[in-house]
Amino acid sequence: MANDKVRIAIIGAGLVSDFHHVPGIRVDNRCELAAVCDPNEQLLNQRKSEWGPAKYTTDYHAIANDKDIDAVIIATPNFTHRDIALACINGGKHVMCEKPLGVSYAEANEMYQAAKAKGVRHMTAFTYRFAPSMRYLRHLVKSGSLGEPRHFRSQRFLDLPETSWGWRQYKKLAGAGDLYDMTIHRIDFAQDLMGPIQSVCGAVKTFVPRDKTVDGKSCEPSEVDDWSALIGTFRSGAVGVWEGSTLMKGHHNSGVGFEWAEVNGSEGSAVYQLVDPNYILVGKHGGTMEKSLVPKQFMKPEASPRNPDEGKPSTVFRYDLVFELVSAIVEGRDASPGFDDGASSQAVADAVLQSYAERRWVDIVL
Ligand SMILES: NC(=O)c1ccc[n+]([C@@H]2O[C@H](COP(=O)([O-])OP(=O)(O)OC[C@H]3O[C@@H](n4cnc5c(N)ncnc54)[C@H](O)[C@@H]3O)[C@@H](O)[C@H]2O)c1
Repeated sequence: MANDKVRIAIIGAGLVSDFHHVPGIRVDNRCELAAVCDPNEQLLNQRKSEWGPAKYTTDYHAIANDKDIDAVIIATPNFTHRDIALACINGGKHVMCEKPLGVSYAEANEMYQAAKAKGVRHMTAFTYRFAPSMRYLRHLVKSGSLGEPRHFRSQRFLDLPETSWGWRQYKKLAGAGDLYDMTIHRIDFAQDLMGPIQSVCGAVKTFVPRDKTVDGKSCEPSEVDDWSALIGTFRSGAVGVWEGSTLMKGHHNSGVGFEWAEVNGSEGSAVYQLVDPNYILVGKHGGTMEKSLVPKQFMKPEASPRNPDEGKPSTVFRYDLVFELVSAIVEGRDASPGFDDGASSQAVADAVLQSYAERRWVDIVL
């Protein structure tokens, strides 16, 4: 690492990179934005003026083979993740990749095995693990404060337009719809809170064709789910219920949507909400759920340079993803969540599709 800075390349200069990966690099002075890659030249030029000095290229192989790049953040459409990750791993880069890691568990597992074999740091961008109330909920569960965890419950509702969802609505490009886009995050944090999922019974549903673009042009109709749901059992003996939809009218909430995730233990319950991520709801047996501010030490990882009092709460915790990647690199330890977490969540998501196709419970086999 020249200048002792971790030199990061962004591969895929679209929405999520602009929303939190590049801002995440900016707040951490242990790293720098060294390169940007996107085949869309118009967007690349726009990013040049927005993001400033760095190498700009349309070819990810140039990044994979660049000895002046230490790490990459892959934020491209799902079907490209595998090839880009394998090329970058082969080039010795540490890799954070957006979720879902691939368009199937097989791809995700291949990526995990490749990163492990090469000895590079690997991280899956499971954003919501970094929310303050999620970090505190995890503490309450792991410290036994809620007693024996029994139930997990999650709801993620978005009120998206019924027009085309671009690459996200084609099976070959996205893998699945709401299930891979939204519910997979909740599968991940459920496993982080409760331990591995053992078995699931799932369902998906497509309601709208999305055969028109926003500007009224015709396009191929959607092939993926708008709604996904599962019930599941954890190896611990606990049970879970998940539901997600992109068609929840009235839950737009300025783009943040609605999110609720709850653990019920033998002594008490606690709730994380994305709409209010600096607060938690907690209730004990015989009492009432009460809202309180997340204690200061759970607002962010201790050494994170981010000021938790600054910015929009439902946005700024996402900057800690880059902090975790860079910390893993400079401290020489595994990043969390890793590609192993990305792969195991995808195994569960794929089991949901199989369960619904075959109308039966499916055990998770890794
Ligand atoms: N973790 C989260 O909270 C979160 C949020 C949003 C999106 N995502 C994930 O991030 C990824 C990107 O989503 P987005 O909303 O930014 O999509 P987007 O369509 O806005 O951006 C993707 C960009 O990748 C570029 N691209 C395509 N092929 C490429 C290639 N071969 N090399 C380099 N760039 C290439 C496209 O030109 C586009 O600019 C998806 O996997 C999505 O699931 C995660």
